[in-house]
Amino acid sequence: MSNSITITRPDDWHLHLRDGAMLAGIAPETTRHFGRAIIMPNLVPPVVTASDAAAYRDRILAARPAGSNFEPLMTLYLTDKTDPNDVAAAYADGLIRAVKYYPAGATTNSDSGVTDIKNVMPVLEKMAEIGLTLCIHGEATEPHIDIFDREAVFIDTTLDPLRRALPELNITSEHITTKDGVDYVKSQPKNHGATITTHHLMINRNHILVGGIKPHYYCLPVAKREEHRIALRAAATSGDPRFFLGTDSAPHTDPAKESGCGCAGCFTATNTMALLAHVFDEDGALPNLEKFASLNGPAHYDLKPNTDQITIEKSDLPVTYPDKIETGDGPVTVFNPGHDIHWRVVD
Ligand code: NCD
Ligand code: ZN
Repeated sequence: MSNSITITRPDDWHLHLRDGAMLAGIAPETTRHFGRAIIMPNLVPPVVTASDAAAYRDRILAARPAGSNFEPLMTLYLTDKTDPNDVAAAYADGLIRAVKYYPAGATTNSDSGVTDIKNVMPVLEKMAEIGLTLCIHGEATEPHIDIFDREAVFIDTTLDPLRRALPELNITSEHITTKDGVDYVKSQPKNHGATITTHHLMINRNHILVGGIKPHYYCLPVAKREEHRIALRAAATSGDPRFFLGTDSAPHTDPAKESGCGCAGCFTATNTMALLAHVFDEDGALPNLEKFASLNGPAHYDLKPNTDQITIEKSDLPVTYPDKIETGDGPVTVFNPGHDIHWRVVD
């Protein structure tokens, strides 16, 4: 017995492609199944100006396998010093699709992030005026805030005041991990969407910590309690247009993850679509997979869906994936949910 589902080719609305040998090694893992992706700008140094974004875009295009039509949708990294006119010009040129807000110190390579939202209000006002989307890493980073509370605190202290100050700004709350995040986005008008990662639909914090520490399940925002995972599953599988896929696939080499101070990031590009088919199948929601992975995201970014399709098949026997992707920088472990998966994309 085999089952299959054919959907519009998906896009990834939050992706880390890195640079250099890592980019060359992992780019095919995304271009194989995805039509487009919003490319995170947290390189070292970050992608802060239009000219940085243009040069990075060229390097990504050069890393595509022969024949690939994958389209990188570029972002700029918002800093306290970002020039509203540079941002507006990059958007008018069709070079960027979004601007990324990292609170300073929130995650990997976020040292140049925003120290106080007041410092960037002129940029945000300009973005609201021209219809450019703000992607937000929504975690409060003050040292006294418990890491499991960072998302909920950010909603109250920063996100909600911003929504009230600039209701016309199109916002993506990225990689939401809590019921609080789901409820907040649902309470907002249509111009507030949220991405959800594949791994946050599959693991809770026990997966990271019970029975020994599992560095390949550690990412930021960190996975929360089971009740939050369940709320994310309900949102993702509901078909609600405000929720869509952003894998946050974030490769780090094994030595960088399996260390006394391991890096944050789960690498899911290789098997995301199979894992999502598993999740939606398990919840009896396969007909909504296309909305989550292929339709809701383009609508939020005012783009058309891709015009071609992919097919995902279910087999009786479990499928296998590579444990690791070898890159010029070193091996990168592929996210493994810890149980059998029976779905695979027909390449
Ligand atoms: C990301 C990375 O490694 O760049 N890590 C992660 O855990 N998600 C940064 C980020 O998106 O927070
Ligand atoms: Zn990310």
